[in-house]
Amino acid sequence: MERGVLITFEGTEGSGKSTQINRLADRLRCTGHTVRMLREPGGTPIGEEIRHTLQHSENNRAMTPETELLLLNASRAQLVREIIRPALHQGEIVLCDRFYDSTLVYQGYGRGLDLVAVKAVIDYAVGDTRPNLTLLLHVPLDVSETRRLARQSTASVQRDRMEEAGRAFFERVERGYRALAAEEPDRIKWIDATQNLEAVEATIGSLVEPWLRVG
Ligand code: TMP
Repeated sequence: MERGVLITFEGTEGSGKSTQINRLADRLRCTGHTVRMLREPGGTPIGEEIRHTLQHSENNRAMTPETELLLLNASRAQLVREIIRPALHQGEIVLCDRFYDSTLVYQGYGRGLDLVAVKAVIDYAVGDTRPNLTLLLHVPLDVSETRRLARQSTASVQRDRMEEAGRAFFERVERGYRALAAEEPDRIKWIDATQNLEAVEATIGSLVEPWLRVG
C-alpha cells in the first residue's frame, strides 16, 4: 500500500519549473514533510547515464525518435522501481521534474510517434505508478523560445540535443500539453507561469495543500 504522494512538474523550457520545485520542496520540508526531489530523464545512476546519452553525448546525433522513446522509458522504469515506489511506500512526498506526460507531448506530439505505441511503452515502464497531481507551468512559446536560445548561447552550457528541434516542434509540444490538460483536468493543473514567482508559488501551494497528510 503506497502512502506517499507523487507530484510531477511539466512545462516547456524556460517555464521556471526548477525554481518552483525548489521553493515547494523548501516549504514542505519546513513544515515537517519528507520530500524527495527527482528529475527525468535521470534521477538514478543508470538514469543519469541515459540522460547524458540523450542530451549531451557527441554520439547522439543520429538518434532516432524510437530510440529516444525507449531510452527515456528505460530511465523511467529504473527510477520508478529504484526510487519512486520505495519512497511512496515510506510515505514521502515525491516531486519529479517531468514524468511521462513529457513523453506523450515531446515524443508523441513533438516527434510524431504513434500515441498508442507511446502509451504502451509508458504503461510498461510505470505500471500503476501514476502521479497524484501534475503541475503544468505554462509560458507562451515566444517566452520559452527566448529563454531557450539565451541559455544555448551561454558558453558554459553544454550542447543539449533535446533543445535542437525547431519552432514547429515546440508548437506541437505546446498543442500536446493543451490536449493532455483538457483530457485530465482533475490531475493536470494548468498554471500561468508568466505571473511573478510569488504568485506562481502561491498557486502551487494551494493545489498541493489537499494532498498533504502530516504524520
Ligand atoms: P530539462 O530537464 O532541462 O527539462 O530537460 C529534459 C529534456 O528532455 C527536455 O527538453 C524535455 C525532454 N524530455 C522528453 O523529450 N521526453 C521525456 O519523456 C522527458 C522526461 C524529457
